[in-house]
Amino acid sequence: MSSKERFAHAMEFPPATPQPNVYPLSWHSQTAKMEEVWDASQREYWDPKKLPWDTFDPAKYSWEEREAIAYWWTLLSVFDASAPPVFAEAMIKTYEAHEEDAVRRCFFSVTRDEQNHEQLCGLAITKLLEHPDPITYEPKTELGKRLQKNAKWLYFNGGRYWNGYKQAVPKYSLAVLFSSFLMGEIAAATIFHQMAANCTEPAFKEGFKNVGRDEGRHMAICMALMERDYPKLELDDRSLITKQVRAGYLFLSAVLFEPPMEFWDLPEDFIANQREGEEIARKAGFAIPEYEAKKENWRNAMLNLKGVLDKYNIPFPAIPEVGITGEEITDIDMEDIIPVF
Ligand SMILES: [Fe+2]
Ligand SMILES: [Fe+2]
Repeated sequence: MSSKERFAHAMEFPPATPQPNVYPLSWHSQTAKMEEVWDASQREYWDPKKLPWDTFDPAKYSWEEREAIAYWWTLLSVFDASAPPVFAEAMIKTYEAHEEDAVRRCFFSVTRDEQNHEQLCGLAITKLLEHPDPITYEPKTELGKRLQKNAKWLYFNGGRYWNGYKQAVPKYSLAVLFSSFLMGEIAAATIFHQMAANCTEPAFKEGFKNVGRDEGRHMAICMALMERDYPKLELDDRSLITKQVRAGYLFLSAVLFEPPMEFWDLPEDFIANQREGEEIARKAGFAIPEYEAKKENWRNAMLNLKGVLDKYNIPFPAIPEVGITGEEITDIDMEDIIPVF
């Protein structure tokens, strides 16, 4: 039916709108947990601008320290700055799928929260570098130059996911998307709780605490949807989820652990530069976990996810990097990723 075709002269009521269309005209509620999470998101809303920035004086750090700390925020931004459009796209999908009212609102809240997380990264980087963009910034130290080269490679890699994601969203059911989202949320909650516990700078500490709390709510949204949908999951979807978890591990390792070189396209000196930067940041009181602690945390996050997927008999992939045995998954490429944070 063309959108210009006219009916009103010929009939009393209009023809039925072809379904599904992008907006439901209904406000169904089935999953009580969703309403709870939405209410919490309203109560816990915070403003990145109102963190105690007045106590933050970047001048008390050396330029090497400032560039090293800003590098960590840049690494985080490679993930967090993609989250607003990623979740905005997922929110549209909840409308197209005529999801429950509170599910639509919950995805709206995730989009809004992720926008806050992106703002926090921007504020931290801009104050540290006195420049709003870590890619065009002119490094002041030799380490800063090498870290900027790292940042450029990370950004290049991250930028290659968007087209794949746009193709994945219509292809997969929300149920499959949730498993990737949950993985991102578990990873994010892990990292922000760690950073909040050990950072000394009040603005960072409070920011991390707020972000960690947001990520906990995002996890709860994914879990509630899994509880609703996974008992009736198709067999094909189960194996797709196993593959997505392996892909998500490789993708998110770059921020939670260290980027697997066979998957991330990075120069040879990347890891050495990053380790050097992290050491400087750590000594300045910015609590990036050490190699072994990162590995242990990432392993625990994966075991946490495994616990959830085991409940629904979804096979877990082998993750030999952190000593988890399971189904071997080898054929992962960039196209397969549903990137989230
Ligand atoms: Fe986030
Ligand atoms: Fe999140």
